[in-house]
Amino acid sequence: KKTALIMAGGKGERFWPRSRVTLPKQFLSLTDDGKTMIQLTVERIRPLVELEDVYIATNKNYKELVKQQLPGLPEENILCEPVGRNTAPCIGLGAVHVAKKYDDAVMIVLPSDHLIKHNDIFAETFTNACALAEEGENLVTVGITPNYPETGYGYIKYDSAAKNGESYPVQRFVEKPDLETAKSYLADGSYLWNSGMFVWRVSTILDCFKKYMPSTHDGLLKIKEAVGTPQEDTVLEKEFPNLESQSVDYGIMEKAENIYTLAGNFGWDDVGSWLAVGRIKQNDENGNVVNGNVVTVNTKNCVIEGADKLIATVGLRDVVVVDTKDATLITTKENAGEIKQVLAKLRESG
Ligand code: GDD
Ligand code: MG
Repeated sequence: KKTALIMAGGKGERFWPRSRVTLPKQFLSLTDDGKTMIQLTVERIRPLVELEDVYIATNKNYKELVKQQLPGLPEENILCEPVGRNTAPCIGLGAVHVAKKYDDAVMIVLPSDHLIKHNDIFAETFTNACALAEEGENLVTVGITPNYPETGYGYIKYDSAAKNGESYPVQRFVEKPDLETAKSYLADGSYLWNSGMFVWRVSTILDCFKKYMPSTHDGLLKIKEAVGTPQEDTVLEKEFPNLESQSVDYGIMEKAENIYTLAGNFGWDDVGSWLAVGRIKQNDENGNVVNGNVVTVNTKNCVIEGADKLIATVGLRDVVVVDTKDATLITTKENAGEIKQVLAKLRESG
């Protein structure tokens, strides 16, 4: 049996002012087809997993958004976290729901806010990943060939000489190294980026919780006990906030020994900032991505997203302009990744 857990609780501040606390990135459409990131994620995994076996873990505040955007999904498959506790508790919650339904099953874990260019290759890769996960106590990752020393990703050191079928054994998993370390990994050549997508059997990941995050495992068992009973919500409200706030990458992947990786050659993009939109969306003859009521003169390689007002630009290069009803962002493509600092300032000044 194949199941999928889509992690959709992230705050996604990088697409401010279009993304807000009330509307994070996974619920936005950043592509020309008009579909939101979470809709594309579900669509992508459907060739492998029935809709009734797709679970969405999110903050309870986003439940209505999930219902609106995924109307065919059974409501009980929306797992509502009372508070954000990062990805380890999120995955644990998904695991106990799947375990309650099927005892054991393969679980595909996907972020809700990435784009993939080639869905057919994606399906093929995950078919192989599922087979490998089914076959043993394996934690299966999907690795991406790195092309710059990103410090916001996890790194997978794989053994290229020990290829077995489509997979490689992983010697080390390192989450978010500092710049010097990331540079050395790139130079070394035997590291891949962690795409943040995982495949394992539910029994395998629950064993890992028991081994590496035992108190979280205890809490998860209490939550599992209550799934499907009238006490379900009360127990979740009581137990979930006590789970350790930790990512699966630090909490489990850095410690585990039974990790494998497959190459993800399907055009992966984690859409980290407005810069990515210039890459993803249809560019006009001047390399601009323009949306809304916009007039450009001598403007090249810009991203301009309008709302109600007319926006006119003259003589701009590599600039990002995003207008919404109550806020306007103006930055350069180079600096588009620094929006978090704006939000920090806004919070400071209340
Ligand atoms: N339900 C739920 N609850 N989902 C969450 C939570 C939470 O508390 N926190 C994050 N998520 C979701 C996000 O919406 C996103 O889809 C996914 O989980 C990953 O979280 P991020 O916060 O985006 O992680 P990251 O980007 O810092 O790092 C991960 O992804 C990288 C690739 O994009 C790691 O797995 C890295 O190793 C990896 O390289
Ligand atoms: Mg991310």
